[in-house]
Amino acid sequence: MVTIKNDEEIALMRESCRIAKETLDFVGKHICAGMTTKEVDELVYKYITSCGATPSELGYEGYPASSCVSVNEVVVHGIPDDRVILDGDIVSVDIVAEKNGYHGDCARTYLIGNVSEEKKKLVKVTEECFFKACEGLKAGVPLFDIGYAVQTHAEANGYSVVRALTGHGIGRSMHEDPSVPNYGKRGTGMRLKAGMTICIEPMINMGTYKVTVDRRDGWTVKTADGKPAAHYENTVLILEDGVEILTL
Ligand code: MF3
Ligand code: CO
Repeated sequence: MVTIKNDEEIALMRESCRIAKETLDFVGKHICAGMTTKEVDELVYKYITSCGATPSELGYEGYPASSCVSVNEVVVHGIPDDRVILDGDIVSVDIVAEKNGYHGDCARTYLIGNVSEEKKKLVKVTEECFFKACEGLKAGVPLFDIGYAVQTHAEANGYSVVRALTGHGIGRSMHEDPSVPNYGKRGTGMRLKAGMTICIEPMINMGTYKVTVDRRDGWTVKTADGKPAAHYENTVLILEDGVEILTL
C-alpha cells in the first residue's frame, strides 16, 4: 500500500531520518582499515540507541545485525562478522533508524585508505545516479523516471544496474509500496504524489548486473562476477514542487 504522510507524520519522518543520517556521519568518522565489519555494526547500534531510536534492521525477517556492511563485491545485505576491512576496500553501510514508529533509511559507500581510481569512480558515479534521479522529481512525475535516470547515468559510465533489488516506500514500515527500481522506461509507472516518502537507492556494479544470494546465510548479495559494487541511498519526501532529501 502506498501511504501519503501528513504534516505530523512528516515531522516524525524528519526526526528518524536525521538520526539515520547522523549515524552514518558517525560511522564515516570512525570506519578505517583494520576494523571488522562487526565493529562497524557496534558503532551503528551504539549511535542509534544513544538517540533513543531503534535499529530497524535488527531482527527484521531474522536479520541478525543493526546494519548491513557490504565490502567490495558484496552489493548489499552483508552481515557484519569477523571480516577485516582492508586498505583499498570500498564498504557500503546501510542502516535504518526507527523512532516514534517511523523509519529513516540511508546508505553510503566509504572509501578506505588508498582506493584505486577505478573503484573511486564507481562510488562517485553511484552517488551521482541518486542525484540524477532527484533532478526534476516532484509530484506528478512517473515513478519509473527514477530508474530511467539511474540506469542512463550508470550505463553511460560503463556500469550496470542491479535488477534483483529495488528501492521502496518507507514510513511506519521499513518497506512500503511502491517498489522503486533502478532501471525503467521513462514516462511509465504510477505518478508520484506529494507526501510520499520513498527510498531511492542505486546499487551499481562495475561488471555484470547479475548477483547471487549466499545459500548459507540467505542474505549476502554478491556480484556474480566478483567485481566491485557500490550503493548509495537516501529517504526522499515528494513535494508539489520538488523533493526534500530527508537523510542528507
Ligand atoms: N536498508 C535496507 C534497504 O535499503 C534493508 C535492509 S534488509 C535488512 O531496503 F534485513 F537488513 F533489514
Ligand atoms: Co537501506
